[in-house]
Amino acid sequence: MTRTLAALLTVSTLVAMTGRPVTAAPQGKGATKDPRILAYDKGPAKINVSKYPTDIKAAYKVFDDRCGACHTVARAVNCDYVLDEEWQRYIRQMMDKGGSLISADEAKSIFAFVTYDSKIRKKDLYDKKRAAAGL
Ligand code: HEC
Repeated sequence: MTRTLAALLTVSTLVAMTGRPVTAAPQGKGATKDPRILAYDKGPAKINVSKYPTDIKAAYKVFDDRCGACHTVARAVNCDYVLDEEWQRYIRQMMDKGGSLISADEAKSIFAFVTYDSKIRKKDLYDKKRAAAGL
């Protein structure tokens, strides 16, 4: 876990050093024709975090903001990523896609939020995927 996070932070630090754009991402940056992904976009765009710990609630704001910058945040809310490894890989990929849209600190918060949330809100899928992966 520590190694996973360290790898994520190394990449995100490099991205952060390039500075972030002043304006929001142009429309269309999250465009896709994949029906599987478009179905995620049509689901709920909010997560009930009222019972989550304070730091996770704060991290949710970062997730909501940054992961909704190119496409609706519903895509990130309703996708089937649940494992820490899946999130680590995907957040890194989204950082690469967005240039400096997501800073190192933001990536850390987003990772903390989605991995916490997956173990609660998507517990069944989380357990199933872990079992399938022999974890
Ligand atoms: C720079 C624009 C951009 C940002 C920022 C961004 N995304 Fe995306 N995202 C995309 C695009 C474009 C796609 C469509 C698939 C592709 O081209 O990879 C996508 C697809 C996705 C998918 C569907 C992937 C699949 O195959 O199931 C998920 C989940 C997702 N994004 C989550 C996130 C999360 C979580 C964040 C915040 C860390 C985020 N996105 C931030 C552009 C972005």
